[in-house]
Amino acid sequence: MTDETTVFLQTLGERAGQVEAMLTALLDPRLRDDEIARPETLLAAMRHGVLSGGKRLRPFLVLESTAMLGGDDDAALRVAAALECIHCYSLIHDDLPSMDNDDMRRGVPTVHRAFDEATAILAGDTLLTMAFEIIAAPQTRLEDRQKTELTLTLARAAGLGGMAGGQMLDLQAETSTPDEAAIITLQAMKTGALLRFACESGAILASSPATERVQLRRFGEAIGLAFQLADDLLDVTADSQSMGKATHKDAAAGKATLVALHGPDWARKQLRGLVREANALLEPFGEKAGTLKAAAKFIATREN
Ligand code: IPE
Ligand code: IPE
Ligand code: MG
Ligand code: MG
Ligand code: MG
Repeated sequence: MTDETTVFLQTLGERAGQVEAMLTALLDPRLRDDEIARPETLLAAMRHGVLSGGKRLRPFLVLESTAMLGGDDDAALRVAAALECIHCYSLIHDDLPSMDNDDMRRGVPTVHRAFDEATAILAGDTLLTMAFEIIAAPQTRLEDRQKTELTLTLARAAGLGGMAGGQMLDLQAETSTPDEAAIITLQAMKTGALLRFACESGAILASSPATERVQLRRFGEAIGLAFQLADDLLDVTADSQSMGKATHKDAAAGKATLVALHGPDWARKQLRGLVREANALLEPFGEKAGTLKAAAKFIATREN
């Protein structure tokens, strides 16, 4: 492992610790304001889906893009936690029997396995809702216009034209034969949209000029494509032990992936190109972009 990778992994781990502390606090049993009750089983299922590991890469990108652009770290931590709630909801629902039908996630049983299907659906619903509560709450110390912009951008990233829409296209692609462009579109939505938000949110949190926001957004798009390409490659090349989830499933399920279309060697070459493209987008930020550049490399070369 190079020194650069060691430093990156250490920073990723430190950030994950901060995010987990925030998520643990948000998912405690204490009633908030006008809440009537926090049903124990639902809360336990949410905690299982959120606090059972994970790389915490999306929160990392929120925190590091904000740090690069000079935004407030405390506010970024809350936005990072909100985004991770949406990501975890997407995983809980993605694993359901009616979707990818998976039994393991992050090395432990999926939420519908550890609890039951109805509870898993509700845990996902509640995490999605909670994300917007976290952003809107007074504890998130941002200007109202920033909160509105974050809410709008995150809603679009998660919704019809983003993650959820992409999941629909992904399911439909199991029974059709989408071409390369259609696969790129569905992946830009199902995976890319939340990663794009992670990077773009830094520019909102730091009230950066529009040009910088566009650069961060495009960086997020490039690493978003790389992220799913790597996930699809790992489905073919990695074992379930190191991934914490089943592998060798995409081909059997008829998933439309670029790895299925072009093969692993093409995918590795493509990943190198996407990292170069992503890094070029960060050139204007000079040395301050070091951590985000390392993140792009990690995404493309990760082993879990
Ligand atoms: C898995 O995401 C789902 C995809 C979008 C491919 P991650 O690989 O980021 O999962 P965790 O959060 O680290 O478990
Ligand atoms: C999931 O893609 C994308 C989501 C929005 C959750 P996958 O179905 O490939 O993710 P894994 O492999 O189950 O983590
Ligand atoms: Mg899926
Ligand atoms: Mg899946
Ligand atoms: Mg996958």
